[in-house]
Amino acid sequence: MSHPVCVITGGSSGIGLALAHRYANAGYAVAITGRDASALEIAATALRAYGTPVLALPGNVALLADCQALAATVWAQLGPASVVVANAGISMRALFRDADMAVIEQLMQVNFLGAVYTAKAFLPQLEQTKGSLVGVSSIAGYRGLPARTGYSASKAALQAFLESLRAEYYGTGLHFLTACPGFTASAIRNRALNAQGLAQGESPLEEGKIMQPAAVADAIYKAQQARRRTLVLTRQGRLTVWLNKWAPGWMDKLVYQHFRKEKNSPLA
Ligand SMILES: NC(=O)c1ccc[n+]([C@@H]2O[C@H](COP(=O)([O-])OP(=O)(O)OC[C@H]3O[C@@H](n4cnc5c(N)ncnc54)[C@H](OP(=O)(O)O)[C@@H]3O)[C@@H](O)[C@H]2O)c1
Repeated sequence: MSHPVCVITGGSSGIGLALAHRYANAGYAVAITGRDASALEIAATALRAYGTPVLALPGNVALLADCQALAATVWAQLGPASVVVANAGISMRALFRDADMAVIEQLMQVNFLGAVYTAKAFLPQLEQTKGSLVGVSSIAGYRGLPARTGYSASKAALQAFLESLRAEYYGTGLHFLTACPGFTASAIRNRALNAQGLAQGESPLEEGKIMQPAAVADAIYKAQQARRRTLVLTRQGRLTVWLNKWAPGWMDKLVYQHFRKEKNSPLA
């Protein structure tokens, strides 16, 4: 029996791992990628319980050659992908004036170019299946956040990239979803880069009190199946996007005050 194929970058943790479970549970063959091969294997072992084919393929989305090798293996072993989720991402927490330029470069390389390389590698397959390219952006792609300059810029660039592609492929049957989660419990804040480019090792949020990755994955799955253009998650996220459109000056102050109050805020 052949299964539709879903590829998820950053499928070993957080939102990507939850998406892999959601798609495998829906009958998709799933291919996941990430840099840590052992974390991928642990994820793949759990995913095999759904009974659909699972590939765990280590790779770095910041390298075009890795994305191309991933696409070739997926096509050869599972068939052309009908859903590709460019989800792999990293974050940062440092004031711009203190941050090494390597931090900003890394954010752009993984979050923006990683999605661009994934799109480049998989569009021939999606053209064949008339499938979906899903980009996992953030509320930070709509509203620049202090101490996250590189993160916000990478997500804004990703959103413009997906919007351009959607227009470029207009009328071809391909689908592009820009998915913007709000704060979601995951490892991303522990791994976020500080000014020197090292993992900050702590989360300023109470991770148990924010949206859980399974709920985010379910919302993204439904939006992809319904072929929606955008998905903006959490009440706080939707309010931020709306207020930023109509009262951007007031939002400058609100956002500053919000992030200044965070635990160990670089703004304090
Ligand atoms: N959590 C939130 O609050 C939140 C909110 C809005 C948007 N998002 C977005 O959601 C996406 C997933 O984040 P998450 O919260 O689930 O984070 P996470 O738990 O840290 O997971 C990130 C995943 O991306 C992979 N990854 C990181 N760099 C990579 C690279 N260069 N090449 C390949 N894979 C790479 C990681 O695996 P390896 O480290 O092994 O490579 C891991 O599987 C990101 O794009 C993030 O910006 C998250």
